Amino acid sequence: MNPDLDRLHPYPFEKLAQLKQGITPADKSHIALSIGEPKHQPPAFVLDELTNALHQIAKYPLTKGALSLRESMAGWLGRRFNLNADSIDPEKNILPVNGTREALFAFAQAMIDRTKNPLVLMPNPFYQIYEGAAFLAGAEPRFYNTTKASHYLPDFDAITESDWQRCQILYVCTPGNPTGAVIPKEQLKSLIEKAQKYNFIIASDECYSEIYFDENNPPSGLLEAATEMGLTDYKNCVVFHSLSKRSNLPGLRSGFVAGDADIMQAFLKYRTYHGCAMPGHHQMASIKAWDDEHHVQQNRIMYKQKFDSVLEILSPVMDVKLPDAGFYLWAQTPIADTEFAQQLFAEQNITILPGQFLSRISENINPGENHIRMALVASIDETVEAANRIQNFITSI
Ligand SMILES: Cc1ncc(COP(=O)(O)O)c(C=O)c1O
Repeated sequence: MNPDLDRLHPYPFEKLAQLKQGITPADKSHIALSIGEPKHQPPAFVLDELTNALHQIAKYPLTKGALSLRESMAGWLGRRFNLNADSIDPEKNILPVNGTREALFAFAQAMIDRTKNPLVLMPNPFYQIYEGAAFLAGAEPRFYNTTKASHYLPDFDAITESDWQRCQILYVCTPGNPTGAVIPKEQLKSLIEKAQKYNFIIASDECYSEIYFDENNPPSGLLEAATEMGLTDYKNCVVFHSLSKRSNLPGLRSGFVAGDADIMQAFLKYRTYHGCAMPGHHQMASIKAWDDEHHVQQNRIMYKQKFDSVLEILSPVMDVKLPDAGFYLWAQTPIADTEFAQQLFAEQNITILPGQFLSRISENINPGENHIRMALVASIDETVEAANRIQNFITSI
């Protein structure tokens, strides 16, 4: 068996199940704030298209996806991030993927040259797929911390010369899971300069980019930063986008990867063998979703309402504020995060994710420790109920 499988850590939810084992929760309805699964309704017109296009199931879909899908995705990307017209050629710069999770993982397998002592840099706390992708690709993961002191933003200047030289892929997550921090465009630009200098790939996971709270100030993205630098071939830059959070379609498994044409060509070659083409009816439904912004705006309104209500309840007892973007509240805890999670479950039947399950020790600290992640995905009533119970709980400890 592949010995690298033994390097994979248990997934955060396995650790969470263990943490809760043996605890009998209070006799109240259970509320899960632990899982980042959108719960708002998927758009009906997308579901209609899914069934209308069901006949496509009789055909093998192309790994590359239908041209009409790639055109739709490229159009959205260009409009959303102010890219130069035609700089995303649907034939060369973009590929559909079955959700960004598999793509973030597969990407490292396709790109890493394991003969060169590879390093994969990634945020800490983080989405655990980056780490597993590095292990299975035969690379060493290296974590850059994002802490409260730096507003949960990376400090790329702290990365050593020898790490830059070994780095083959650097994952960024902006807006961040779990922190909600958006990396400013200027910081992305200086990172792009590093990528050009040391010849590594920036893999920018932007799957939360459409959940933000100021309609006039959407999060910027890596390709937008590259465009402003005049780097319209997007050398060494790729972005990952998804319909899961944007359009409440996590079960559709639909997203895309876009950027540097040489990288995308190699990734397509890999994916042809990997064999994970998106089913035809999912492709057709995805076109409808990428082509519409109204439902995305409506979705943002619902998240904003929830954050407003929850922050009003929690801010008197916790240091919480509206994140830059995304649907998580990432908050410091008055007691150890694991203990907080256990007691909250026992006393209020609420499940949250302890921050240390999303992070590793790096530079002698564990930046997830004494933090919790609360996903505001449920209905407003349920989320408000959860916030009230958390307020009671904190007041009681
Ligand atoms: C940071 C981050 N990236 C990627 C994903 C994967 O999303 P999907 O595969 O649904 O596109 C998630 C899902 O929770 C996530 O939190």
